[in-house]
Amino acid sequence: MSDFAGKTAVISGGAQGIGLSIATALGEQGMNIVLADIDQENLQKAALELQARGVSVLTVILDVADEVQWQVVGQQAVERFGKVHMVVNNAGVGGDSGSIESQNKNGWQWVLDVNLMGVVYGAKAIVPLIKQHGEGGWVINVASMAGMTGVPYSGAYTATKAAVVALSESWAGELERKGIRVSVLCPAFVQTRIYDSERNRPEQYQSDDWDIMTESSFSKRAKHLVENGIEVSIVGKRVVEALNAGELYIFTHPNYRPFMQQQSAAIDAAFERAEKSPLLQHIVDQKIDML
Ligand SMILES: NC(=O)c1ccc[n+]([C@@H]2O[C@H](COP(=O)([O-])OP(=O)(O)OC[C@H]3O[C@@H](n4cnc5c(N)ncnc54)[C@H](O)[C@@H]3O)[C@@H](O)[C@H]2O)c1
Repeated sequence: MSDFAGKTAVISGGAQGIGLSIATALGEQGMNIVLADIDQENLQKAALELQARGVSVLTVILDVADEVQWQVVGQQAVERFGKVHMVVNNAGVGGDSGSIESQNKNGWQWVLDVNLMGVVYGAKAIVPLIKQHGEGGWVINVASMAGMTGVPYSGAYTATKAAVVALSESWAGELERKGIRVSVLCPAFVQTRIYDSERNRPEQYQSDDWDIMTESSFSKRAKHLVENGIEVSIVGKRVVEALNAGELYIFTHPNYRPFMQQQSAAIDAAFERAEKSPLLQHIVDQKIDML
């Protein structure tokens, strides 16, 4: 029997795209699925799709940027399935793209609230429920390859995704002793509607310039790359494969490995120069005390 059978996963942004792909793959493993999303219509469609595959599903309307709504998701999940074992912090938006000076406060705030605080609130609401039963579990955060290496003209998105990678590394150390495994999914381009995140942008984050940005050559190129990305159904299956292997970093695009190797080599070379600096010789061999 799979490690997942009979357990319960809460998946934010599960109505479509990567979230639904993960829900489908986990449902195939026998998990109960709580789909939480801001998009009511697609949430219902997704639930019917999963139910047709024999998966037990609960749907809850959720704006991940609202901490109180996350608490309700947790309560409803426990009421329906008894225990929660996994949270998949997947909901995310592409946000505005463009030069540093073209990015305004509303655009930044939207991406920060959804892509970063949404993950923080999700963990704050669900991790205590996983700790409660003592059977262990999983936290899966959806970042991006953009979080591993900066993407020009995409500052807000890149910053939030890098933060999600860093949070995952921090939480992995924190939750290991509780038997809760943390993983961070870092896809490159996947065929979803991420390029059309504007559809889920609440009024308070509206920005006057977004239509100009959507028409920009950068946005058109990003849309083209997403449309030519890998098939979304692969992603959920890859997540299950990586969870079974206990992976912290989950990659879906092995062809990006040379980029990461170049980055690691550049960082290592920078350390080598620091090691040779006359200013730093007194700490070269100093023992490191970790927290
Ligand atoms: N598609 C890609 O190429 C790609 C690459 C790397 C990372 N990602 C990440 O994958 C995750 C999923 O995106 P996707 O590609 O499936 O995009 P998508 O737009 O197809 O799906 C996003 C889902 O999140 C929901 N959502 C949006 N805002 C929300 C909010 N405030 N609260 C709750 N739900 C909300 C949407 O309704 C939708 O169901 C995101 O975090 C994204 O950054 C996507």
